[in-house]
Amino acid sequence: MANLWSGRFEKGMDEIVEKFNASIGVDKRLYACDIQGSIAHVSMLAKQGIVKEEEKEKIIKGLTEIKHKIDKGEFEFNIKQEDIHMAVEGALIEALGDTGKRLHTARSRNDQVAVDTRLYLKEQIKEVIENLVYMEKVLLEKAKQYADQIMIGFTHVQHAQPVTVGFHLMAYFQMFKRDIQRLQDTYERMDYCPLGACALAGTTLPTDRYFTSEMLGFKAPTENAMDSVSDRDYVIEFLSDASISMMHISRFAEEFVWWNSQEFSYISIDDSFCTGSSIMPQKKNPDMAELLRGKVGRVYGHLMQILTVMKGTPLAYNKDFQEDKEGLFDAVDTWKASLRIFAKMIEKTEFRMDRIEKHLHTGFLNATDIAEHFVKQGMPFREAHEVVGKMVKFCENNNKDFTDLTEGDLEAIDSWLSLDRLPDLSIEGCVKARVSFGGTAPVEVRRQIRVGGEWIAEL
Ligand code: ARG
Repeated sequence: MANLWSGRFEKGMDEIVEKFNASIGVDKRLYACDIQGSIAHVSMLAKQGIVKEEEKEKIIKGLTEIKHKIDKGEFEFNIKQEDIHMAVEGALIEALGDTGKRLHTARSRNDQVAVDTRLYLKEQIKEVIENLVYMEKVLLEKAKQYADQIMIGFTHVQHAQPVTVGFHLMAYFQMFKRDIQRLQDTYERMDYCPLGACALAGTTLPTDRYFTSEMLGFKAPTENAMDSVSDRDYVIEFLSDASISMMHISRFAEEFVWWNSQEFSYISIDDSFCTGSSIMPQKKNPDMAELLRGKVGRVYGHLMQILTVMKGTPLAYNKDFQEDKEGLFDAVDTWKASLRIFAKMIEKTEFRMDRIEKHLHTGFLNATDIAEHFVKQGMPFREAHEVVGKMVKFCENNNKDFTDLTEGDLEAIDSWLSLDRLPDLSIEGCVKARVSFGGTAPVEVRRQIRVGGEWIAEL
C-alpha cells in the first residue's frame, strides 16, 4: 500500500518507524467522529462548489459503508495506515478511486484530529455527566433514608461533633455537583469547531467554516487557525476535571474501607461487592472500595503526562500531540466505570446504626454545643471554651461523661457552673439544634436534599 504522501518520497518507511509512528491501535476509537467530520466537510465542499454534488453523494455513501464495516468489526485495520484518518481515507480511495481523492481538499489531519477529539470529548462529557447524575440520585435517596440518623463527624480522624449520616452523604453530593459543573464549563469552552483550520493557516479555497461547525453541532468555528491545531488544553481540562472527581471518589472510597473494618463496622458492604481471601477463610475484603481509591492514580498520571507532552512545544502542530489520546481514553473509561460501580455499591450499602450508636458517647461530641449554650447566656466564646475544656478534663480524670456530672462536680470545676446552666446534653438534642444554614440538623439536611433534588431535576 503506497503512503498518501508518496509523491515526495523515494523510499518507504522502515518497519520499526512505521510501528513507532502509528497511532491506529489507539485512535481507531475515533472512527465514528472522524467519519462524521468527513461527511460534514464534504457537504461543505459541495455547497461551496469545490466538489460536485454527485461526488459528494458518492463520498458520503462510501464513508457510510466504511462506518458500517467498522461498526460490525469487519474492517481490517492495518498499521501501514498510520492513523484513523488515513485508514478511513485510504479505504474510501480504494472504494471510489479518484472521487475519493477529493475528500481531503481544504483540510489537514491537523484540524481533522482536533475536530475528532473535540467531537468525541463532547459526547463523553455528556456520558460522564449522566454517570455523575446517577451517583447524585443515589446519594439523595440514601441521604433521605438517613436524614435523622446520627453518626460521628471527624476532624483529624478524631471525634469532633455529631452529624447525621444524611449530612455526611450530602457533603459528597456537593462535591459531585461541582464535578458536573466543571464538566459543563469545560464543554462550553471546547464547543468550537477547528475543522477548516487546515494545516495551520487556513486555505485559499472558498470554504465555509460556519457551515461545518453548525452541521457538527458546535457553537461556532474556532477563531484562529493556528490555535485550532496547536492546543490540547481541552484534553488537559477534561483530565483535570477527571482528576478532581476521582480524588473525590478516592476519599469517599477510603471512608468505605474504614467504615467497613471490624474496628468500625459502620457499614457492611454487600457480598456482591466484596472478595474473599485465597488463604483466610473468614475474610470478606472491600476490594471494590480499595480499587476505587487506587484508580485515581492512573488518572493523575494521564494529566501529568499530557501537561508534560504539551510543555515547550512550539506552534503549530507537532507529532508529540499524538500522545494525547491513550491517557484520555483510559481516563474516560476509568472515570465512568468508577462512578458506575461506586453508585451501585452505595445503593446496596446499609449503615449499621447499632454500631454507630455505640461510638456516639465517647469523645465528648457535644462539647462545642455546651460552649455555645454558655455563649447564649452571655459568656464570651473564648471563656466558654475554657470552661468546657475544664469539664472535659474533669470527666477524663474521673472517668465520667458530661451526663454523669453532679451539681457538686460542676461546682468543683467552676463556680459559675450549675446543672441548670447546662443545655440538653443528649446527642439528638445537639444535632437538632444545629440549624444554621448548611448545618447538620435534620430539618436543614432535608432542605439540602430538596434543593439538591431541584438542581438535578433542572439539569
Ligand atoms: N495521528 C495524528 C495525531 O493524532 C494525526 C495528525 C497528524 N498530522 C501530521 N501532520 N502528522 O496527532
